[in-house]
Amino acid sequence: MASHILLLSILAFSFSFAFAFEPSPLQDFCVADSTSSALVNGKVCKDPKLAQANDFFFSGLHLQGNTSNFLGSKVTPVNVAQIPGLNTLGISMARIDYAPWGLNAPHTHPRASEMLTVLEGSLQVGFVTSNPDNRLISKVLQKGDVFVFPIGLVHFQRNVGHGNAVAIAALSSQNPGVISIANAVFGSNPPIVSDVLTKAFQVDKNVVERLQAIF
Ligand SMILES: *[C@@H]1O[C@H](CO)[C@@H](O)[C@H](O)[C@H]1NC(C)=O
Repeated sequence: MASHILLLSILAFSFSFAFAFEPSPLQDFCVADSTSSALVNGKVCKDPKLAQANDFFFSGLHLQGNTSNFLGSKVTPVNVAQIPGLNTLGISMARIDYAPWGLNAPHTHPRASEMLTVLEGSLQVGFVTSNPDNRLISKVLQKGDVFVFPIGLVHFQRNVGHGNAVAIAALSSQNPGVISIANAVFGSNPPIVSDVLTKAFQVDKNVVERLQAIF
């Protein structure tokens, strides 16, 4: 019995590490081989002897993102899709631009915690804890301020300053993933049947259909 408990706790420990964080590299680097069709957890390494500086390089994060959309914000990601040398390293980043009152709408990163640094402007940010509390933890940030969004939690940022705002996000995954709440719920393909959404959100079918038409 005691040995079962020990085995279970060892298993619980190793699973929590395996699922909560990306595995440690087993070599200096593993530049993603974009020509490989093999499916692995992450991307296949190309021959390290063929690695070049450009495999670890991205240019353009000084450029303002185009915020002409209904949210008034734009995310410019710099993850393993842009820098193949990030494969297996467990980190990535993004630039986020906000027009006045622009919103980076509520979303979660299924695979990453995030540290957000404000470079310009003033942002109201927040995240919501899981059930049953659903507590909103929120703050207004100024230039130079840093805020943390824990892995998996729903979070947002809104520009509450007079001009444009810019932030840089650091993320603890080579491929953090983004689940935008409105798009996942009201914009899935195919759509979630409206009975599910009318009951879940306690609204009429026409409200659900209006949201489904937007997302
Ligand atoms: C920004 O995006 C809008 C909407 O997609 C587009 O009409 C506009 O030409 C873009 N502006 C620039 C400078 O690329």
